[in-house]
Amino acid sequence: MSVGATFLGGAKSRLLPRSIPFRFFAAAAVFHVMMWLGLLNGADEATGFRGGLGATLASVHLLTLGILTTTAIGAAVQLLPVATRRTLHAVWPIQLIFWLAVPGLIALIIGMHTAQTRILIPASAMTAVGLLLFCGLLADNLRRTSSLPVVGAYGWAALAALVLVTVFGVTLAINNEIGVLPDHGAVALAHLILGGFGFMGLLALGFSHILIPMFALAPAPEKRPSFISFALSSVAVFLGTLGALAGSRNILTVAALTGLAGAASHLWLMHRVLKAGMRKRLGLSFILVRAAWIMLPATLLVGLAALYGFAGANGGTLFGFVLLFGWLLTFLVAILQRIMPFLASMFATPQASGGSAIVSELANARSLKLHAACHGLAFAVIVVAIVLDNAMVARLGIAIGLIGALAFAWFTADVIRRILPAD
Ligand code: HEM
Repeated sequence: MSVGATFLGGAKSRLLPRSIPFRFFAAAAVFHVMMWLGLLNGADEATGFRGGLGATLASVHLLTLGILTTTAIGAAVQLLPVATRRTLHAVWPIQLIFWLAVPGLIALIIGMHTAQTRILIPASAMTAVGLLLFCGLLADNLRRTSSLPVVGAYGWAALAALVLVTVFGVTLAINNEIGVLPDHGAVALAHLILGGFGFMGLLALGFSHILIPMFALAPAPEKRPSFISFALSSVAVFLGTLGALAGSRNILTVAALTGLAGAASHLWLMHRVLKAGMRKRLGLSFILVRAAWIMLPATLLVGLAALYGFAGANGGTLFGFVLLFGWLLTFLVAILQRIMPFLASMFATPQASGGSAIVSELANARSLKLHAACHGLAFAVIVVAIVLDNAMVARLGIAIGLIGALAFAWFTADVIRRILPAD
């Protein structure tokens, strides 16, 4: 039986109230627009950004915490109980996570943008409590399930990375005030690797083992090669973190090569899933999925080139940009534009009782086409801006990205409008 059928079988009985997942998706859509506005405001420093408090770091966290992590929480709290067939004990912990993490990250962004540690430090503590609560919830769900061992393994590894990225993040915030760390930059790089490849990267690879087979109506990938791929990717994250903390180019090189092997094995598994799938026409979202799949190994190749000085003066910035925008943001918006209508269709009035066919109606929404075009073009223009170290070109790319984010926010609002409870 395909993953899709298994998944759909138990879905309705394990649905959370619609406001739970959609409050996270709505917040992410707003932070998406704010991120591009923040980048526009800090365009002069963005093309050569190498860390440090200011407008670009604030935009990095509007992306990493505001869009990626917020969406991951919204998706995980709804998808995991359905996939694992283990309901969550209660809804209030998720509401508490939302009211800690979202206001906390808004204050964190203000603290980073204004470089005021008296705002940054308490805000990072508040955000950290929200994220660690989510870790507890995720751990409780994973602990009670054995039906999806591969997804479970990715879930535990991503959870461990989130605990570490949060601890490193709070430490970096405090260190901007008291300066005790022997090498601030090394911890910042380890924080980036744990956040980008560890938490978000492993979560994206793990959820792909449920979502890609579900959308393609295909069986899940075989266990053995899936566990080998998982092992390669996790070891790469571990070595990357170690290499960053030790400041060792050799260990970082081995990490990148192991990561390339992990990425190649994952893409091979996903290729086989699409080949075996009953649904061949997968639409616009899978053009973005395939683009993101190209960006995953490209990130590691740019990282290697930057490590050996072959990626130009802004090689480190280019590496971070391809990782966060090229691989993670592209994959996330591709999946989000599928799961939001799918989830909404569970709440909407069924067609048989006069309801509308949300999924098919929204699949080719003009807002999504505009978003996809702007996202791709913005990415290409900003890559050129980073290589040329040109703020004017960066502003053009960022303006295009902003239009795309507004289109995606329109799409998100359109989905939510359709599931608002009738008066
Ligand atoms: C409670 C949560 C978090 C806090 C308090 C936090 C805090 C920080 C701080 C203070 C820095 C600046 C380092 C510097 O001075 O250069 C930083 C850098 C960064 N953070 Fe976070 N962060 C958090 C979560 C995350 C997450 C979840 C991700 C990724 C998914 C992330 C990605 C990054 C990146 C990419 C950088 C730039 C690294 C660099 O400076 O080279 N952060 N973070």
